[in-house]
Amino acid sequence: MNAFSATLAQIQLLWHALAAVVEGDTADLMRKAIVGLSVEGGHSSLSTWGVSAHKDLFGGTAGRASEEIRAHGQGGARRLRTADRKFRDLSGRRGGYRIVAGNPPFVRFERAPIGPEERIEYAPVLKKNTDLSVLFAFRAMEWWLAPNGRLGFFLPLALSEASYAEPLRAILAQYRIVEIIDLEEIGNVAFHGANVVTIGLVMEKTAATAQDQIKITRVTPECLDEEHGRIDMTKAITDVVPRSAVLLERYLPGSGADLRAPPAETKADDETVTAAPDHETPSSEDSDDEAASEDGEASDSAWLTKIRSADVDVLDALAAARRLDDIILRGWTKKAYRQKTRYEAAIPNGEPAVHWQQQRVMGYGVKVGRKSIENPGGRPVYKAKHLPPDGSLPEEPFGHWNGDPAEVDTARFYAWAGVGDEVNTFVVRNIATQPVFAPHPANAYLTNTVYCIRLSERFPLNIWSLSRVVAWFMAKTARTSVVQGYFTTFYPRQTTRIPIPAELDEALLDELDEIGRRILTADDELARGDTEIEKLRSGVSSRPFRNRLDLVANGIVTAPKDVSWPGADANWTGARLLVDGADIRFVTTDADGAEAPAPTETGQPTVITITDPDLREWATSEARSLLARGGRPDRQWMGTLSIPDDPAAAATLVRRLREGSAEQELAAALDSLDRKVADLLGLTDGQLDHIRDAFRTDAMLLHVRPQWKHRQSVVTRDASQRDGAAA
Ligand SMILES: C[S@@+](CC[C@H](N)C(=O)[O-])C[C@H]1O[C@@H](n2cnc3c(N)ncnc32)[C@H](O)[C@@H]1O
Repeated sequence: MNAFSATLAQIQLLWHALAAVVEGDTADLMRKAIVGLSVEGGHSSLSTWGVSAHKDLFGGTAGRASEEIRAHGQGGARRLRTADRKFRDLSGRRGGYRIVAGNPPFVRFERAPIGPEERIEYAPVLKKNTDLSVLFAFRAMEWWLAPNGRLGFFLPLALSEASYAEPLRAILAQYRIVEIIDLEEIGNVAFHGANVVTIGLVMEKTAATAQDQIKITRVTPECLDEEHGRIDMTKAITDVVPRSAVLLERYLPGSGADLRAPPAETKADDETVTAAPDHETPSSEDSDDEAASEDGEASDSAWLTKIRSADVDVLDALAAARRLDDIILRGWTKKAYRQKTRYEAAIPNGEPAVHWQQQRVMGYGVKVGRKSIENPGGRPVYKAKHLPPDGSLPEEPFGHWNGDPAEVDTARFYAWAGVGDEVNTFVVRNIATQPVFAPHPANAYLTNTVYCIRLSERFPLNIWSLSRVVAWFMAKTARTSVVQGYFTTFYPRQTTRIPIPAELDEALLDELDEIGRRILTADDELARGDTEIEKLRSGVSSRPFRNRLDLVANGIVTAPKDVSWPGADANWTGARLLVDGADIRFVTTDADGAEAPAPTETGQPTVITITDPDLREWATSEARSLLARGGRPDRQWMGTLSIPDDPAAAATLVRRLREGSAEQELAAALDSLDRKVADLLGLTDGQLDHIRDAFRTDAMLLHVRPQWKHRQSVVTRDASQRDGAAA
């Protein structure tokens, strides 16, 4: 670390030493510990000081005079001979430590100066866009750790799946993975300010065996001990799975590997990727060279940090299915790949076959460049950031394009013009809580916020992919770390892995179409209801309710001012509301599956009493939509609740929508879809139940839902919850 960090660390040690003196009996122990510690600044722990792991085959300093090592220094860095002996040992002697614990920097490799000589030492793990933590993990495992020693590192979750960490994973996987601690559920609490999802990884330097069992630990919000600023690991949830269950390869079929995937893109045109400067989210600029975007590419060597033991047989069953990839149309492209090249359905007559390669008819939408495009008479170009499953595009077109590749930066998918059948073309949005598929809108182009695929046969992909069976499989195997705040996730791995039925006969397709029609109609109806409610909400009263808690004074709301609200750390996962006379109560399901009041700061249940039936109806509807969005009521929410000008009319509308069948119909249709999909993929009832339960109870999956046209989600609510809510 740098000298400044070292000084800070020394000051911290000093504080501990002083505290120990005050605490008396630990003083002696503390003093000893502090004497044993040494903090050295000014050297890089990654520096190898001329000791070559390659030349010495990790034999340490053998053959190299220690004077030589000590004298070795690199531009700007202090010479090792000036360093503390312990640091020299660390750098020069291999395999000296039984325990290596660390919280290495999560910083892009480009930011860290590392000499050409050292690059050679790290060559086995160096990849474009890699992260310094990869180098640290490599060095710790291969250099510092003694045989049978244990490593405990905090690492970015991305290391478990990103392609840049593939070489590191291959090296680590030779050894025993002891435990993976997934910290995603607590957001960025563990490392304040860093927008990086982290895991804890415990490795043991013994050869991996097929019998190894891996402990998977989930740090849930219940583990947060705000008062002491601690994470209470005794409250974490642990599970044990066989080693192979953690490795993604177990669930992947071998097909299609020879065909090139579409250029991966982690960052599309208008995507805002937020990250602290030292903790960057891997991203790639659009490039004509598809290989440039390695970091977003699928990596089949991923480790599944969220696997549960009960998931394994369900994933195994789904892994055996046919894949979407099998029905993606293939076309031909010249081997000298250019984004602006037109692609062909077959190798043109007279062309030598060796110059051509077969490829999936799939690719990101058109990239227009910074400015808009206006080709007179061209088709509209849409950004399609929000893509409901019916493919409707509510927004304004971004411009107009005549389809000529020369007019745009990259034509990508549209360079396939004329290859295959437009009817079987779908759009995929993979920055969403669940990858969304929609039919490609007719007579329009889409930008690279989405990618497009053309199928070789009829298949209602947009409907099929709405099934929770598919969503679950994707969430378990293809989801990755965060791009835009927690829970907005990215599916960089090929959505072409979606399991599909072995056979697609016309009767089956008609049946799926029919279920799809029911789903889309219900979604549309709910969306129209939402629009009406939104109108009411914005037509808020001009009555002088500076603070709507004033309603208390008007006798409309008789809730006492001291309503108990959920505290910041209260777990309201799956919370719902019940109306009981004039009272609105909030409940959750406890560990035993029983109904329990949702936890609050005071321990008293949250009860809002509203005597006026119309206002109650309205407030209930607003509270329900708050919960559906993952929010929870609090004083501020109550205080700013909009009150429609005409509460009676609002209540009538809310009642009509609630009593209307659209919500039930959507839930029922999704249910039929799930059953059909489970059936076609050979899942048992128990396996389907496992998936459906996961969507109600798993903190990550609670946020996973399609991009419905209507905003609320009925997906996470089961029948009993609906009945309760409608009371
Ligand atoms: C995430 S912080 C962890 C700090 C401390 N270990 C902890 O857990 O609080 C990473 C630390 O690594 C240091 N660092 C960065 N590059 C380094 C290098 N090449 N050699 C040694 N330390 C480095 C940074 O200065 C920073 O203090």
